[in-house]
Amino acid sequence: MTTAQLITGISQLLTLRGSGARRGNSLSNLGLVKDGAVLVRDGVIVAAGKRAAVEARAEANRAEKLDVGGRVMLPGFVDSHTHLIHAASRAEEYELKIQGASYEEIARKGGGILNSVKKLRAATAEKLKGRALAALEQFASYGTTTVEAKSGYGLDVASELKILRLQKELNTEQPLEIVSTFLGAHVVPAEFRGKPDGAEKYIALLLKQMLPEIVNEELAEFCDVFCDRGAFTREQSRRILSEAQLHGLTPRLHAEQLSRTGAAALAVELGAASCDHLEQVNAADIRALGKSQTVATLLPGCDFHLGLEKYAPARELIEAGAIVALATDYNPGTSPTVSMPMILSLACSQLRMTPAEAICAATINAAYALRRDERIGSIEAGKRADLAVFEVEDYREIPYYFGMNLCWMTMKSGEIVGMKE
Ligand code: NIG
Ligand code: FE
Repeated sequence: MTTAQLITGISQLLTLRGSGARRGNSLSNLGLVKDGAVLVRDGVIVAAGKRAAVEARAEANRAEKLDVGGRVMLPGFVDSHTHLIHAASRAEEYELKIQGASYEEIARKGGGILNSVKKLRAATAEKLKGRALAALEQFASYGTTTVEAKSGYGLDVASELKILRLQKELNTEQPLEIVSTFLGAHVVPAEFRGKPDGAEKYIALLLKQMLPEIVNEELAEFCDVFCDRGAFTREQSRRILSEAQLHGLTPRLHAEQLSRTGAAALAVELGAASCDHLEQVNAADIRALGKSQTVATLLPGCDFHLGLEKYAPARELIEAGAIVALATDYNPGTSPTVSMPMILSLACSQLRMTPAEAICAATINAAYALRRDERIGSIEAGKRADLAVFEVEDYREIPYYFGMNLCWMTMKSGEIVGMKE
């Protein structure tokens, strides 16, 4: 039986129509329709636009009706960078950081990512799954409908596979779409450190044992590397990502976060889907990103949580024509948040992006970063009915009110997955 739904009462419908990646001035174009309506059939948008035009369609009459009471609707957020599966918070390190220890000092003493690795290896799949499910419900409650998720807290064959298999299960067992990325190259694990050629031996394990199994079980679509001081070099990153590409995985990179390594230029050279962080980019990197199809994904939650002053140069990237996206980077070490509205607030106040630019960056451009802009990221006929409705009168109030959850309803493929009481 086909089920059609007619959604009305949308004071501002941000369609983001005219799909494809947005650069420069087009980042400001929300395709805003006042008094809008959306007609959905079998989870897919059939029509979206002015209420009168949508209601005039024969199917609208027979459809189930949903009035959202004059609220603002936008495409569900696409969170294109998260470390969804981890065993516990690192609140103890948060306190040390406040007292003056830097992220890298803590990492050098065996804390940081290695701390999370220890905890993840000791955790059962059931425990990890329960924690991830609770987080996914929270993601949905803030208006997010698609979540990219990286492995990277396992760093041995069994534990990396444990994470990626869980992500595959979660993708079918709960409503949000999970897009999997293999991040075996997060850091060199403790058991390889101090050994002669330890990093090389770990890379060999990653390429010879982890990667073939991941490809064989179809556990990931993307491969990521943390290319930075204390993690992997640019040349190691190039080797890992080139090999992953030969296996059919699309590269993405953690780039220019703590130090400038040339990772952004490498991302452009490899045709990576995105390079993420970018606090330390230089003028040449900005120019290169401006001319490329590689998305510049900014993660201001990290700088905020770590108390760092140097945010990524969003304005310069936009002016250079880069495809800018925004994501939470949900993880226990640098950005423990699932809230895309909070990321929009930071993008506006710290990156000086306008509310319209930030919304484009968190929806259609993020969908492009996940190679899904044909299916999600805007409210147009033919796309999945992934929708977020906010309890505001004007879309600019979404970033304006910070640290509050004003999301009233979230819909994934036509199904309500989050609703305020
Ligand atoms: O995106 N930079 C590397 N990875 C994460 C941090 C991971 C952690 O500290 O646990 C990030 O910031
Ligand atoms: Fe990250």
